[in-house]
Amino acid sequence: MKTQILLPEDTKVAADILKSGGLVAIPTETVYGLAANALDKKAVESIFKAKGRPCDNPLIVHISQIDEIYNIVKEFSPIAKKLAAAFWPGPLTMILKKSDIIPQEVSGGLDSVAVRLPQHPIARRIIKESGCPLAAPSANLSGSPSPTKVEHVISDLYGKIDAIVDAGTCGVGLESTVVSLCTDVPRLLRPGAVTPEQLREVLGKLDVDVSLVNPLKKNEKPLSPGMKYKHYAPKVRVVIIKGKKEQYINYINKIADKHVAALCYDEDIDYLHVPSVSYGKEDDLNLQAEMLFDSLRKVDKLKDIDVVYARCPRMDGIGLAVYNRLIRAAGFNVVEL
Ligand code: TXA
Ligand code: MG
Repeated sequence: MKTQILLPEDTKVAADILKSGGLVAIPTETVYGLAANALDKKAVESIFKAKGRPCDNPLIVHISQIDEIYNIVKEFSPIAKKLAAAFWPGPLTMILKKSDIIPQEVSGGLDSVAVRLPQHPIARRIIKESGCPLAAPSANLSGSPSPTKVEHVISDLYGKIDAIVDAGTCGVGLESTVVSLCTDVPRLLRPGAVTPEQLREVLGKLDVDVSLVNPLKKNEKPLSPGMKYKHYAPKVRVVIIKGKKEQYINYINKIADKHVAALCYDEDIDYLHVPSVSYGKEDDLNLQAEMLFDSLRKVDKLKDIDVVYARCPRMDGIGLAVYNRLIRAAGFNVVEL
């Protein structure tokens, strides 16, 4: 298939492709999404095919303005309205009971649907001009790091989808926060730029799923099907190192050989005796979020490396989301110094 590369102003072309059942990678403020008409089963099925995604992993439905939610969900509850008023448009996804027009293909057979009103102006224009809600998972091959730059989308999906809208780098860099409102107490299923602290200010109570930072137990069924799959993983083995800066540097330099690399902060690079890729500055959690996926892809481009030792991020604010992605990339492999 020939993939067209579109400019940000080509929103009508993108919308026309989507209306006729095609697949378009679109920018959002979090990561690039692979969009299709959420009400068109065939189009939705082709998303799973292009990504190689397991069909029981449901998709997020994107809308361009709040009133579009009423068609998609059974009830837009008072608590959901409060969250929407606080965080939409923006990097927050809510899980609500689905209406009958949402196909099983979108919800992965569940009776709920994930809904997001993104902040990115191009995303919203494309949704509006296509006249339908758009199902859009991250526009990467299933299992690989999510795409924050157009070259990531091209490298994973060129030739497999109809078009890619090139709108530069995604500002947040990690996928949206996912909150389920289908549980008695609202439950955080995936951390993101909207932090647990911010959610608690609006919701009062918020349960945080232990599986966000711990491996699932054998046969345990996660509330969010996406959590059971291996994620964000580069091909090379990643190990997280928990400890102070000096301990991290000493640990790596002691075992440094030509097959070892580091995924570190800018401040560490000068002290390390192995090839190093930075994912931001030690005190800038937003920058770490923005850079992490790009840095994981860069790590894979290093030659002859068997193992990458990653500096462990902080776990407050958006740091929890950075840690959540990194620990999955590392297959929960952590060394505490
Ligand atoms: O920032 C984002 O959320 C990006 C952009 C494109 O909007 N999208 C994204 O989609 O990250 P995806 O498919 O890569 O992640 C969706 C996550 C998965 O972990 C999935 O299991 C979960 O949301 N999810 C979707 N529908 C759900 C539902 N009904 N119940 C529980 N979890 C659900
Ligand atoms: Mg994804």
